[in-house]
Amino acid sequence: MGAREGEGAPRGTRPAASLWRPGPFAHAERPRVRRVAAFGGIYSNHLALEAAIADARDRGADLLLCLGDLGAFGPSPDRTAETLRAAEIPVVRGNYDDSIARGLDDCQCGYTDPKDNHYARISYDYTLAKTSSEHREWMGGFPGELRFRLGALEVLAVHGSPRRMNEFLWETTTPTHFLGGMIRQAGADVLLGTHTGIHWSRQVGSGAWYVNAGALGRPPNDGNPEVWYAMLEEEGGELKHEFVPVSYAVDDLADEMADEGLPEEFIETIRTGWWTTCLEVLPGKERSRGRY
Ligand SMILES: [Fe+2]
Repeated sequence: MGAREGEGAPRGTRPAASLWRPGPFAHAERPRVRRVAAFGGIYSNHLALEAAIADARDRGADLLLCLGDLGAFGPSPDRTAETLRAAEIPVVRGNYDDSIARGLDDCQCGYTDPKDNHYARISYDYTLAKTSSEHREWMGGFPGELRFRLGALEVLAVHGSPRRMNEFLWETTTPTHFLGGMIRQAGADVLLGTHTGIHWSRQVGSGAWYVNAGALGRPPNDGNPEVWYAMLEEEGGELKHEFVPVSYAVDDLADEMADEGLPEEFIETIRTGWWTTCLEVLPGKERSRGRY
């Protein structure tokens, strides 16, 4: 594949996810893209994932990228894996993927409160039991990070942070100088991550940006069932980005979750957009924006 595949691709063409093939994305040559759609945690919300893929392609993204955490929360985890594989979407290893691939005892979500861990345990045991061995093996090959050129900008895509896969970078508790140090140390212009489930971004001085893509798996605790992804481009040496809302068949997902015996609290979040579980990890300001 040529290094510039995808540049100038007409709107709606198939994204060049195969830029990283063959093998587990280990090419020395940086892929170059023009417009990237970054999907945060999918949490087994395969219906939102399908809607987001269609939307990103329609908006002319020439790279669709998943930042990890395919499982948790939602139903039938194999459906998410099948959709990502069929669409040839590269995936950065998330804590969930790492745990599921290796059959660890827990999700390495990084929760500390017993209430958070209670619901994380339900999600994890369900997801581990319902993920096929073939998909687990595939997840074991995810890279810890991906780098690519977005126009003139160097982008580093990770799950939590460059230093820790399950580090929470919240908007209200992450100092700007700390972000700047990480971006400089990584030799990048743009740091792209997820893990928190709530999208946000910040320009860090001149010529450096952090973008948290949020999550496709559940709404960002804002009382609206839509979920979000991030679309990024470079223009005149600057990052141009937006967060894109995704509408999908919420009722169908809720019904499927009920059929699978998942907790009513999870279904309520999908229907209402308010987080009902795993709340203790939220910083005070983020938590005060929610209902619970
Ligand atoms: Fe995560």
